[in-house]
Amino acid sequence: MRHSHILTLALSLYFLALFLPTQARHHYHKKHKHSYYHNAPEISPSPAPAPSNAPDDASSPSPSGNENYHNASSNLFDVRTFGAIGDGITDDTESFKMAWDTACESESPVKVILVPQGFSFVIQSTIFTGPCKGGLVLKVDGTLMPPDGPESWPKNNSKRQWLVFYRINGMSLEGSGLIDGRGAKWWDLPCKPHKGPNGTTSPGPCDSPVAIRFFMSSNLTVQGLRIKNSPQFHFRFDGCESVHVESIYITAPALSPNTDGIHIENTNDVRIYNSVISNGDDCVSIGAGCHDVDIKNITCGPGHGISIGSLGNHNSRACVSNITVRDSVIKVADNGVRIKTWQGGSGSVSGVTFSNIHMESVRNPIIIDQFYCLSKDCSNKTSAVFVTDIVYTNIKGTYDIRHPPMRFACSDSVPCTNLTLSDIELLPAQGNIVLDPFCWSAYGNSETLTIPPVFCMLEGLPQSISGNDIDHC
Ligand SMILES: *[C@@H]1O[C@H](CO)[C@@H](O)[C@H](O)[C@H]1NC(C)=O
Ligand SMILES: *[C@@H]1O[C@H](CO)[C@@H](O)[C@H](O)[C@H]1NC(C)=O
Ligand SMILES: *[C@@H]1O[C@H](CO)[C@@H](O)[C@H](O)[C@H]1NC(C)=O
Ligand SMILES: *[C@@H]1O[C@H](CO)[C@@H](O)[C@H](O)[C@H]1NC(C)=O
Ligand SMILES: *[C@@H]1O[C@H](CO)[C@@H](O)[C@H](O)[C@H]1NC(C)=O
Ligand SMILES: *[C@@H]1O[C@H](CO)[C@@H](O)[C@H](O)[C@H]1NC(C)=O
Ligand SMILES: *[C@@H]1O[C@H](CO)[C@@H](O)[C@H](O)[C@H]1NC(C)=O
Ligand SMILES: *[C@@H]1O[C@H](CO)[C@@H](O)[C@H](O)[C@H]1NC(C)=O
Repeated sequence: MRHSHILTLALSLYFLALFLPTQARHHYHKKHKHSYYHNAPEISPSPAPAPSNAPDDASSPSPSGNENYHNASSNLFDVRTFGAIGDGITDDTESFKMAWDTACESESPVKVILVPQGFSFVIQSTIFTGPCKGGLVLKVDGTLMPPDGPESWPKNNSKRQWLVFYRINGMSLEGSGLIDGRGAKWWDLPCKPHKGPNGTTSPGPCDSPVAIRFFMSSNLTVQGLRIKNSPQFHFRFDGCESVHVESIYITAPALSPNTDGIHIENTNDVRIYNSVISNGDDCVSIGAGCHDVDIKNITCGPGHGISIGSLGNHNSRACVSNITVRDSVIKVADNGVRIKTWQGGSGSVSGVTFSNIHMESVRNPIIIDQFYCLSKDCSNKTSAVFVTDIVYTNIKGTYDIRHPPMRFACSDSVPCTNLTLSDIELLPAQGNIVLDPFCWSAYGNSETLTIPPVFCMLEGLPQSISGNDIDHC
């Protein structure tokens, strides 16, 4: 059963990859280019690694790095042993690949690739490929950086992704170090919002790399790291299973475009705990094909809040279910908890609970937008992603009075159903104008009196909903 599921998932992802003109397809293309190192079991570490003139070599526990490689008791693969310099200038890509391949092929049960403290490593866009023999830890105690901006990006490298982990089962990315995406020059490209001449937005290709991407991998932990200033999303998980993100800090300026903190899609069994994210876009964004996601104790903001969607773009089918966001804080954000879908999509979002969330000066603390559209001229369609069984409980704090604190804008043909509110208390951050909640085609009820009260929700179920119209996924 399970295997056939995985096979189906793998096949559907493969076809998805064929049809998506995005990272996925590009990736397959790249994989072939890279196959030399995937197929090369004989990449042995150089017998005499380049004599290391690295800054604090004297403090290194093992000056002759070669011993590290053979040190079966620690299973430690220090990138410097493989020739990495870490002076913040030298391109250390090849050394990292070699460290990866050696660790990946090693028979020891748990291998640690060490990026040591006190060094700053520059590496190009790279795909670290599995499967590996057993679990693997990439311990980043130093600093990791890509080349600085589009001008320095090697022409033959993907501009859509920087560090990619592909087909890995059992990996932990951890450490006390820093991943610095050096995004500033990418954010200023003339194609980015208002960055063209005289504050315009120029047309044309606008690719900017995701900092860390996990693709078709499972049993992953990301823990303790700081990551800042990604050119685009900081983390992206697609086609992954069993992901645990714990105690990470993500920072980017409030005006940095598309710098989502953690984006997941086609990814299941996800836990995101005890983390702090401030950036210029969604704190966490949940795309199509995600289920069983638990988000707990995260602090978001400034930024765009926690988002399910956008879903159903280009008439696509999206299935998202069993999502919990709890015990969290969202501050100075454009949105709090948001579900956004495009007209014309299909599938459903169901079984979502937002509980115990504190809002501080948030523009749209609670919002469902089934008319999501970037161009402002999307026409209404008869199909839409069905939104149902959504619980909002114990959501308190303040909102920015430019927008109503609650907005449920649902499709005429596919209304939202079973929206439940309890213990909601949202007050204006400034002034005392309490705006009325907005509802359109929204069915559900308030279990307790809310502040402000919601009188606009419709009771029961809509006439038009007859099982057949709805795609329950
Ligand atoms: C192997 O690693 C352990 C732990 O880091 C260390 O104590 C030991 O000295 C190392 N052995 C060699 C031969 O380098
Ligand atoms: C890009 O070109 C350089 C030099 O020609 C080569 O060493 C490197 O492997 C290439 N990288 C990719 C991703 O093809
Ligand atoms: C998950 O990865 C760890 C090592 O990181 C490994 O010990 C464990 O067996 C893996 N679990 C599964 C289900 O593959
Ligand atoms: C930018 O604005 C200035 C002054 O208004 C104008 O002279 C110039 O042509 C504009 N440049 C472009 C590219 O629109
Ligand atoms: C919540 O997360 C923060 C930031 O990581 C951490 O300091 C705090 O201890 C966490 N709280 C709980 C109850 O785990
Ligand atoms: C919902 O997801 C959680 C993990 O977040 C999981 O423990 C639970 O079993 C899931 N519930 C259902 C009904 O699948
Ligand atoms: C789409 O439907 C909504 C709700 O009926 C309506 O407010 C909006 O004007 C419509 N948009 C267009 C482009 O027709
Ligand atoms: C409404 O949604 C809640 C939460 O997902 C669920 O427990 C309940 O069964 C749903 N009610 C109906 C009538 O479907």
